[in-house]
Amino acid sequence: MSNHGTITNDNHAALWHGRFQEGPDADAVKFETSINDDMRMAFVDIMGSQAHAKMLYKSGLISEDEQNQIINGLESIKDDLKNDKLKVDLSAEDIHSFVEATLTDRIGEAGKKVHTGRSRNDQIALDEKLYLRYQIKKLQKELLKLISVLVKIASENKEALIPGFTHMQHAQPVTLAQHVCAWAWMFTRDFTRLSDAAKRADLSPIGSCALAGSGLPLNREYEASLLGFTAVTDNSLDSVSDRDYYLETASDLSILQMHLSRACEEIVYWATTEFNFVDLSEKWSTGSSIMPQKKNPDFAELIRGKTGRVYGDMVALFTMMKGLPLAYDRDMQEDKSSFFEAYDTVISSVRIFAEMIRTAKWNTSVMAAGCDGGYLNATDVADYLVRKGLPFRTAHGVSAGLVRIAIEKNCKLEELDFSEYEKASPLFEKDIFDLITPEKCVEIRKTTGGPAPSEVQKQIDKLSAFIKDNTSAEEDSIDDFIYTGV
Ligand code: ARG
Repeated sequence: MSNHGTITNDNHAALWHGRFQEGPDADAVKFETSINDDMRMAFVDIMGSQAHAKMLYKSGLISEDEQNQIINGLESIKDDLKNDKLKVDLSAEDIHSFVEATLTDRIGEAGKKVHTGRSRNDQIALDEKLYLRYQIKKLQKELLKLISVLVKIASENKEALIPGFTHMQHAQPVTLAQHVCAWAWMFTRDFTRLSDAAKRADLSPIGSCALAGSGLPLNREYEASLLGFTAVTDNSLDSVSDRDYYLETASDLSILQMHLSRACEEIVYWATTEFNFVDLSEKWSTGSSIMPQKKNPDFAELIRGKTGRVYGDMVALFTMMKGLPLAYDRDMQEDKSSFFEAYDTVISSVRIFAEMIRTAKWNTSVMAAGCDGGYLNATDVADYLVRKGLPFRTAHGVSAGLVRIAIEKNCKLEELDFSEYEKASPLFEKDIFDLITPEKCVEIRKTTGGPAPSEVQKQIDKLSAFIKDNTSAEEDSIDDFIYTGV
């Protein structure tokens, strides 16, 4: 029986119980626990403690035997959690307390040394950064799958005409390939933004302790290198106060979800009877409890709807941080529920969006028919005259005049009699009719990034290279670090 602390010597009492004579109120315990949120970081918490034990041994603070006991004890906890032989105790204050208490249960006195030169303040920052590293890789893997789906759709639809819109009004013809490549490029930016966030989070906070570093001879650099960090953080106060890595990633997640939401908005109206550009698979549609004919694009709507939740989580994080003085404040414990909710929402949305569009049927003949009306070739009529030397502003006026006549006659530009063209400008020749078909309007747009099939092929090649360059071999081990047995 130890005489340190008057309440209990139970390893599972709160880590700080020694100074207190009264136990906490049951409601207080329930209110302050973070175990429901942080238990998913169990494996990285263990990984961090194993590295810490190695560092403590190297620094002469524990013996080799104690180091081995700690490492093996933690490994057994990890194995038992993995195999479901051990359950996280939901009455523990947090995952750090649970792991430390379970370790001491298993190995005795040596377990009480694992927290030497460490505080939960630097420990939580470490766990979050380690966990984030794997979260980002996992999400990036899903993004690459999504980009591959888009590349496949693009490759199969390079010639498939589709009206392009601005202000939701017919603008100029493009192709389905060009359209889905536009989505793909958004997701490449999301991918690289996440890489940037991971890079900035790649500094180890451990050894900053509660706020003021340690008088013990810790080797922060060694521990950081064991955990795969590039370097250590530069200021102990900043180390335990910083949550920029969550704020930054939550911002990236918000942008990514916004991209999904915009694409989903298009899917929703493309799936209407009026548009009929896409037929979603029955697996990714729902029906109505009253209207037997309905096939609703609920998954696209839900992804769009969940965007508010992701923004909300981001704003919650920013608001949580805005008034906090240095260094650690307990407010920061709230970071996990917001960040994890945003992350879980985004990663499942990416997966579901990819499946939804992978299994969709694209009604390319309906899309092509949509390019027939709406005067999508009016710019090409003007460009025809520009090629013959007319100033663009004048050519714009000539084309607008022809559009006006066509509207009056309720016909397409290509259905106007050649005499109308001749009247509008002596520069027109009969070849105008060959040059303003929707196919020609697309084919001629060969500027870099334009919709001409030859240009879209370049995008497809570039996107394929992006996928290849960013596919890493180590991905399969990611799941080892994400505890899901909750
Ligand atoms: N559970 C806390 C968090 O998630 C970490 C523990 C720090 N607690 C403390 N009382 N200093 O932020």
